Amino acid sequence: MPSILVVDDERDIRESLRGVLEDEGYTVALAESGEACLDQLRKRACEIVLLDIWLPGMDGLDTLERIRQLEDPPEVVMISGHGTIETAVRATKLGAFDFLEKPLSIDKTLIIIKNALEAHRLRLENAEFKKQFQSKSVIVGESIPMKALRQQIGVMAPTNGRVLIYGESGTGKELVAHAIHANSLRKDNLFVEVNCAAIPEDWIESELFGHRKGALPGAAGDKEGKFEKANEGSLFLDEVGDMSLKTQSKVLRTLDEQRFTRVGDDESIKVDVRVIAATNKDLEEEISRGNFREDLFYRLNVIPFYVPPLRERKEDIPLLSRHFLKEFSAAYSRRPREMTDDAIETLSRYSWPGNVRELRNVIERLVIMNPTVHRIERKHLPPLVHREGGRTAGGFSTLHQARSAYERDYILKKLDESHGNVTRAAEVLGLERSHLYRKMKALGIAVKE
Ligand SMILES: Nc1ncnc2c1ncn2[C@@H]1O[C@H](COP(=O)(O)OP(=O)(O)OP(=O)(O)O)[C@@H](O)[C@H]1O
Ligand SMILES: [Mg+2]
Repeated sequence: MPSILVVDDERDIRESLRGVLEDEGYTVALAESGEACLDQLRKRACEIVLLDIWLPGMDGLDTLERIRQLEDPPEVVMISGHGTIETAVRATKLGAFDFLEKPLSIDKTLIIIKNALEAHRLRLENAEFKKQFQSKSVIVGESIPMKALRQQIGVMAPTNGRVLIYGESGTGKELVAHAIHANSLRKDNLFVEVNCAAIPEDWIESELFGHRKGALPGAAGDKEGKFEKANEGSLFLDEVGDMSLKTQSKVLRTLDEQRFTRVGDDESIKVDVRVIAATNKDLEEEISRGNFREDLFYRLNVIPFYVPPLRERKEDIPLLSRHFLKEFSAAYSRRPREMTDDAIETLSRYSWPGNVRELRNVIERLVIMNPTVHRIERKHLPPLVHREGGRTAGGFSTLHQARSAYERDYILKKLDESHGNVTRAAEVLGLERSHLYRKMKALGIAVKE
């Protein structure tokens, strides 16, 4: 039962509030001053404090301020006899949830308490998820390959061995790289990332090794490179397969000698860096095509990690979906949602060519597009995932298919907004009711009326 602490110096008010609130099933405690209130809160947490503004000794606003400094503070509803705008503003700034004015209306009091309880629950839940997501290296998944991967990280991360992470786009390679660093002996030093595919060829060397002023067009001052930044930490070379042969040879030399020179300089700099590389290319094939140096490949590939595509570990889809649903509900300050088994099953049937990233994007979109829906059902899912086992990367093979998919999505959304009322949805869509019926039939949308 939620507990409420009533703080008022007038005995009659304390007692009558106690009576009303206990009748509603709340657990009620009483305090006659700010000091007594804080004493009680230190001993026993509660969800809501009803706090009189005018109190002898420490007044209500001071008490409010102290309450808000507690760890996981309760929601505070101020009670005022002669409410002025200024006190209201001050109390709101100090974090009060709402106000009640004397004489108290029972109905209003109960409504505000209900709202405050809801706000309190959301606040606690969001704080909990924030804590969880602060660490970027939570790898969700209980499938056999993911368990094996976690175990491999546990064993290999504390060694200093170079790591090469393989896997299709969006499988979680960067996440694995973070996890390796976070579990390594270098965890208190920097994790520095370079995306070798995203940096123009002319700049990659300077990005990695730094440069002297004037060494390149546009190099206005001396610059420290990523190898230097990552000293005593880890350097993540993402998309390493996209590095030019010239850069590859300089990286190779740096790995061999643990030293390098900035572009345009001849003084060599010594570094202690653990390199973690990742690629979605088949590097052995790139070697046979002459695009990747074999000697560099062997230097990088000391400890290989493979992150399997999502379609090969479909057991993880329910867990991941619910994980992202929580993450985005918290991120967008929406109340927590659930997802029906039916919806989860549909997600599990799809082949996810964009892997976990695609799933994450779909869930984020669901949270944004359906602000008031608390149970995500199959009908809320985007059309793409309804196509069982679809394989093309995010595409439709014909314009007709794309249009139908879009139409279906749009009609479902409007039907949902009209609570399934076809007549109403037809009005909104600007169609005859019979026309909408025919469309729904053609698009395979069940008619529920
Ligand atoms: N097992 C997992 N648990 C939780 N989140 C995951 C998991 N795998 C991937 N993600 C999330 O999915 C998104 C894509 O993952 P990530 O960026 O690590 O993939 P990637 O393999 O590096 O992709 P790319 O090859 O496109 O760079 C990220 O937001 C990541 O946090
Ligand atoms: Mg990546």
